[in-house]
Amino acid sequence: MRLILLGAPGVGKGTQAQRLATERGIPQISTGEILRDAIKRGTPLGIQAKSFMEAGNLVPDDVVIGIIRDRLSRSDGADGFILDGFPRTVAQAQALDRMLLDSGAGGIDYVVNFEAPNQEIISRLSGRRTCPDCQAVYHVEHAPPRQEGRCDKCGAALVQRTDDKPDTIAARLKVYDQQTSPLIDYYRERGLLRQLDATAPIDSVYRNLRSLVQGTKSR
Ligand code: AP5
Repeated sequence: MRLILLGAPGVGKGTQAQRLATERGIPQISTGEILRDAIKRGTPLGIQAKSFMEAGNLVPDDVVIGIIRDRLSRSDGADGFILDGFPRTVAQAQALDRMLLDSGAGGIDYVVNFEAPNQEIISRLSGRRTCPDCQAVYHVEHAPPRQEGRCDKCGAALVQRTDDKPDTIAARLKVYDQQTSPLIDYYRERGLLRQLDATAPIDSVYRNLRSLVQGTKSR
């Protein structure tokens, strides 16, 4: 199964990608996580990406395309993968098409577009807490950890992402409208787009996502 999860920041892509990737035994490839890890480790990539991410802007296309090219060359994606947060511009989508064509391994099965109103998205992002060590995602109301402020999986203290502050959320939503939403038509024209109502509770969204992608098998 080769999937792209598309949708505005905070709509729930990462939450669902983690569950589906675990169930299917394939990697969840999140450019946001790769970039946050680089910032944490202070690598040249992290230093380059930090100011873009803190302002809610996209990291330049050539940087993220390079990340994905490296990541897809690893053997753990041979049976499929879930792309979460990539592509985010038409240039990134075109580069991905070329990469998959060159690899000779076939294209994307589906692009699932997560839909929810901005008001719901803002509430999800404002209440999100993440684990800085294992990247698990929580919400203070909708998906709270068993012990307040502690990750269920590894026990680390949960944090609020620096880009989950009101001004940066507004900037990210604007960037999504201007630069990422054109991908909806890009993939619709190619017959790959599937729409998913992301407003329901997490378990219902997961059931609907599974039935949308049911026909796709591991390769
Ligand atoms: P990235 O990390 O990809 O952030 P994003 O797309 O903005 O998405 P999020 O991780 O914020 O949200 P999500 O949809 O995964 O929602 P989640 O499941 O966490 O990117 C960060 C930055 O990196 C970008 O701004 C950019 O600078 C850079 N970047 C990354 N990729 C790039 C690229 N390709 N090109 C250029 N730059 C790039 O859920 C949100 C909250 O809601 C959680 O608290 C969760 O518990 C809760 N929740 C989830 N589902 C539900 C539900 N159904 N009901 C109630 N609550 C729910």
